[in-house]
Amino acid sequence: MSDFVLAIDQGTTGTKPHLLHIDGRFETLPGFEHKQILPQPGWVEHDPEELITHLEGCLAKAGPARAIGIANQGETVVAWDAQTKRAIYHAIVWQDARTNDAIGALKEAGHEETTLARAGLPLDPYFSASKLRWLLDNVDEATSLRRQGRLRLGTSDAFFLDRLAGIFATDVTTASRTSLMNLETLAWDPVLCDLFGVPMECLPQIRATADDFGTIGKMPVTASVVDQQAALFGHGCRKTGDAKITFGTGAFALCIAGDKPLRDVASGLLPTIAWRLRDAAPAYALEGGVYNAASAVNWARNLGLFADYAEIDSFASASAISRGLAFVPALSGLGCPYWDRSAAGMWLGLGLDTSKADMMQALLEGIALRAGEVIAAMSRLAPIGARISIDGGLAKNAYFGRFVADVLGRETIIPASTELTGLGTAQLALIGAGLATIDTLPPPPAAKARLAAGKLADEHRMKFHTAVSRSRNWR
Ligand code: G3P
Repeated sequence: MSDFVLAIDQGTTGTKPHLLHIDGRFETLPGFEHKQILPQPGWVEHDPEELITHLEGCLAKAGPARAIGIANQGETVVAWDAQTKRAIYHAIVWQDARTNDAIGALKEAGHEETTLARAGLPLDPYFSASKLRWLLDNVDEATSLRRQGRLRLGTSDAFFLDRLAGIFATDVTTASRTSLMNLETLAWDPVLCDLFGVPMECLPQIRATADDFGTIGKMPVTASVVDQQAALFGHGCRKTGDAKITFGTGAFALCIAGDKPLRDVASGLLPTIAWRLRDAAPAYALEGGVYNAASAVNWARNLGLFADYAEIDSFASASAISRGLAFVPALSGLGCPYWDRSAAGMWLGLGLDTSKADMMQALLEGIALRAGEVIAAMSRLAPIGARISIDGGLAKNAYFGRFVADVLGRETIIPASTELTGLGTAQLALIGAGLATIDTLPPPPAAKARLAAGKLADEHRMKFHTAVSRSRNWR
């Protein structure tokens, strides 16, 4: 019998296999990148067949595992045929804003109170519900399949599980990102399904996070989870107030909220599920997302603002914000705590003397400052501790890490392993398979760096805040 569990991290830009050996060794195998399909401004799609091929590639690379866990991209949706298990349209990705007008109409009609009260979520194209409705309204095959009782709608995890493991299910963390699940009952909410016009009978069954999700070959799938929640688990966050920020495509801050949802509409933070381990009570989290982090850096690289990452690892000048140059990374609008898609990306403070390096310095700072706004909002609601753990590609950038520690005013830990989503998913699969409990897991990975808490001058914070205000009401 094999001595490892396999975690597959199916994220926004790629799919990666990770092996957690029973003796605690953790290894990451090379993964696959998939195409970002951008049919129109604001639209982002993936080819579900390509994602399946990559999942199968991960399974083949890993070989027989004791159990499997799958992390998913969160709010990304798929529609497919229950009989053939083939998707009828591309996956519509969490970043996609095609439903902006539909969401605007729901807001205008006063429905945000309902989504906030029932799902805990504001009205925003980010969440799955309006994307599922778009599929129903715009894909002819959805109508004919529905008539025949063969239409399946769900987040990407439900599609993968149905296709590969023969089970039409999702987990409670993923369901909590759809805006269709009631945060108190943890079941699909008839009022929300009605509001968005998503037929409940087309949705998957909601299970726990560490649970039974069918088998692939003879291997049981024992965990399914949103990647951000998996990273929270992998960072070892367990106590109320323990927090992490993942700087990936976007930046996602999550903290443990305890055994009840922590609701505060005015904060702009999202009450969500952290995880549920089989029949145990769910753990809740608070989440705040910044839509553009690495996506902003990559965009700037494609524009030619820099070529090599080493060029933006350190800068000769004092911080850009202290020199009056700010960047607001609202390339896809502003997420938490503003939820404002009318905002646009912006540099403020350009002069004839501004160099590409200055612009990049401001860009990195802008991402850190936005994450700082989220953590500031969080710390008004939860006892965020004196240290925060960060991960994701950008956490490897020395200037960025240092600036984050200054903005947060907290010790900033960069774990030695950068694959916290993979690790968390594998640990959840281990628990789901009955091979460990939350109390018997080894401690979180050692720190590669501990950056002492710094202090950002209030005037710089204010300056950034002013820039954020000016980026709004533009589109
Ligand atoms: O909410 C979207 C988030 O879960 C996506 O994370 O790592 O796939 O960019 P990632």
